[in-house]
Amino acid sequence: KERTYIMVKPDGVQRGLVGNIIARFEGRGFKLIALKLVHATPEHLEKHYADLKGKPFFPGLIKYMALGPVVAMVWEGLDAVKTGRVMLGATNPLASAPGTIRGDFALAVGRNICHGSDSVENAEKEIALWFPEGVVQHELTLSTWVFE
Ligand code: GTP
Ligand code: MG
Repeated sequence: KERTYIMVKPDGVQRGLVGNIIARFEGRGFKLIALKLVHATPEHLEKHYADLKGKPFFPGLIKYMALGPVVAMVWEGLDAVKTGRVMLGATNPLASAPGTIRGDFALAVGRNICHGSDSVENAEKEIALWFPEGVVQHELTLSTWVFE
């Protein structure tokens, strides 16, 4: 049972894409185990994107992510990290395939709608950062029909 941290970015919230993004993860068969709407501080966002500190776009990225509330979520299921990244599409929407979240809704790398963890290790770090209170343990009765 793998977990990934998925976050609808402020532009995704403003554009009314929260429900669509949740529906994609639900429909694919993942289990929602944490969810909240939060207007993050720049300090918190700098921790989330700590690996990118020093990149020329870093200050702009923090400003973008602090423009408004985000929807923070944890989804659990088979290969959640890799499949989550495939569902997101490429970082730059110029290269995101149609059918992916970014390929369907985004045009610019600086307004790319949604975040997804890029490794199991980073997912664990991000889940701890955004949900220090922990996640919710529960079973979906249909889970054995989604993966063995
Ligand atoms: P996240 O899921 O948000 O972490 O995106 P990613 O893993 O696909 O890409 P990465 O972690 O490398 O970059 C994080 C975010 O920084 C991206 O989603 C973009 O919003 C932004 N970003 C990355 N590269 C660029 C760039 O070259 N220019 C600008 N303006 N923004 C960038
Ligand atoms: Mg990333």
